[in-house]
Amino acid sequence: MKVVEEIKQPIDFEMELFEQKFRLSMSTNVALLNRITHYLVNRKGKQMRPMFVFLVAKMLNNGEVSERTYRGASVIELIHTATLVHDDVVDDSNRRRGFFSINALWKNKIAVLVGDYLLSKGMIVCIDNNDFDLLKIISVAVREMSEGELLQIEKARLLDIDEEVYYDIIRKKTATLIAACCSLGAASVKPNSDEVERMRKFGELIGLAFQIKDDLFDYGEERIGKPTGIDIKEQKMTLPLIHVLSTVSKKEHDWLINSIKNHNRNPRRVKEVINLVKERGGLDYAVAKMKEFQEQALQLLQKYPDSDHKRSLELMVNYVIDRKK
Ligand code: IPE
Ligand code: IPE
Ligand code: MG
Ligand code: MG
Repeated sequence: MKVVEEIKQPIDFEMELFEQKFRLSMSTNVALLNRITHYLVNRKGKQMRPMFVFLVAKMLNNGEVSERTYRGASVIELIHTATLVHDDVVDDSNRRRGFFSINALWKNKIAVLVGDYLLSKGMIVCIDNNDFDLLKIISVAVREMSEGELLQIEKARLLDIDEEVYYDIIRKKTATLIAACCSLGAASVKPNSDEVERMRKFGELIGLAFQIKDDLFDYGEERIGKPTGIDIKEQKMTLPLIHVLSTVSKKEHDWLINSIKNHNRNPRRVKEVINLVKERGGLDYAVAKMKEFQEQALQLLQKYPDSDHKRSLELMVNYVIDRKK
């Protein structure tokens, strides 16, 4: 059995029902919007975030979820989709999930508005059901994601980023939403318990590993359904490069910075940068850091009694760093 199927087995029923609810949560009477939301739901991603929501809820609540858990999962996936639609505008990226991105097909104007629409639909799902505790978790995540993307742009302009700033950026732009999945999963069945904070921390650690993995993909050539090699073009400095910058000679350091600042649109030069980062162990360093976060996340699970759901969460943590897309 493939590992994803194995992970999903204890939440098969919930994921199927989730998909129906998620589809409905996007519905609209505006024909243009309807075409675009159809396009989006028919090109679904890995759905790791709803999987985290359901697995955490079931692990903590003897295998039971509630309607709140379903709503939370829908809201998170709506917000995740909204941020991807906006992110592809920001990063000027034309592929997503193996197809054209929304901005590639409908242009930036429409992509910005569709992202806003999905975000507001998510908020309304919570408000209509008085899930204000869940709405709070989600709103904090949305604020931090916006801060993270802006912090990244600020640092890309200045080319001034060290390892700590990098973690700060990825914690905000990616890890907070995965942290929200896990804390929301806990809050949906055990509101006001200590588990909510413990699961938030668990999700945050996974989220950090998750984004390091995503940044490693950008250095590869595998087909992952979105462009690779675009981070340097966008002057986005990620862990492999940051690490190498802190270890090489002044001459190489200046060459790297000059390449990123003045030659980032030259594919040959970008390739040379990538090769240097690889030669100097940048990828190995990032893999080692990613594994540290993975280990810390797994440790937080140790205190829970064995169950199918706990086992799937452990497999999920490993999948985050072993995945092929
Ligand atoms: C992509 O997230 C955005 C990042 C935080 C790197 P996913 O890799 O989970 O995207 P989909 O939903 O599976 O396409
Ligand atoms: C994560 O950063 C984006 C979000 C938090 C939405 P990236 O820009 O690296 O994500 P991808 O690679 O486009 O999916
Ligand atoms: Mg992007
Ligand atoms: Mg990326």
